[in-house]
Amino acid sequence: MFGIIGGSGIYDIVKDAGSVEKRIIETPYGDSSEISIFEIYDKEVAFMPRHSGDHSFPPHKINYRANIWALATLNVKQIIATNAVGSLKREIPPGSLVLVSDFMDFTSKREKTFYDNEVIHVDVTEPYCNRLRSHIIASSDTISTTDFIAKGVYVGTEGPRFESPAEVRMFQKLGGDVVGMTGLPEAVLAKEKEICYSSICLVSNYAASISPNKLTMDEVIEIMDIKKLEIIDLIYKTIEN
Ligand code: HPA
Repeated sequence: MFGIIGGSGIYDIVKDAGSVEKRIIETPYGDSSEISIFEIYDKEVAFMPRHSGDHSFPPHKINYRANIWALATLNVKQIIATNAVGSLKREIPPGSLVLVSDFMDFTSKREKTFYDNEVIHVDVTEPYCNRLRSHIIASSDTISTTDFIAKGVYVGTEGPRFESPAEVRMFQKLGGDVVGMTGLPEAVLAKEKEICYSSICLVSNYAASISPNKLTMDEVIEIMDIKKLEIIDLIYKTIEN
């Protein structure tokens, strides 16, 4: 089964699949977000809006463990996630899609592991699944996308506030490319479940202080609305290929 986790603005990706089964899965960590299970190109797909369908969970309150546990329970072996991010570099303008390849975790208060009571250290030498990344990169040639960037470093912050100018300078110095609040610990939890996980990051804005404008959530949603169909197209092409 193929899993898709939709970020801000992507709450439904079912195009014209026949029947759609909706499920909320009970896990040891609580209930998952609602999952839509359907078929495309003869493949079973489980779609989950990360923030839930009505965007009611803020990034720091998402039950990442329940969501990944639920997808693992459905026998999901690969996940494409979407994440809205701010750009830390002028040469990565809003509207770009970045297929991140590495991360730095600056989240602080989240439950980050399934191994709370066992001494297990998961290897993250390959933080995101290269096989799936290559597959998405190959599929990106078949859609009309303007700014597609095949690798990058994701900086995960706790939120829910945006970053301060000094934090942005620090992340730039450390080698970050994009910054967001929802990519971690999701990627690591997927790794713990041995799920091949890839994230398509949509740049909705320049990070605070790079652009002179004050940041608003409306800006994030506006770009999502414009680029949403392109991202869904890319996901469909990847599943088809
Ligand atoms: N910072 C953190 N998270 C974000 C941003 C940002 O600038 N834009 C969208 N999500």
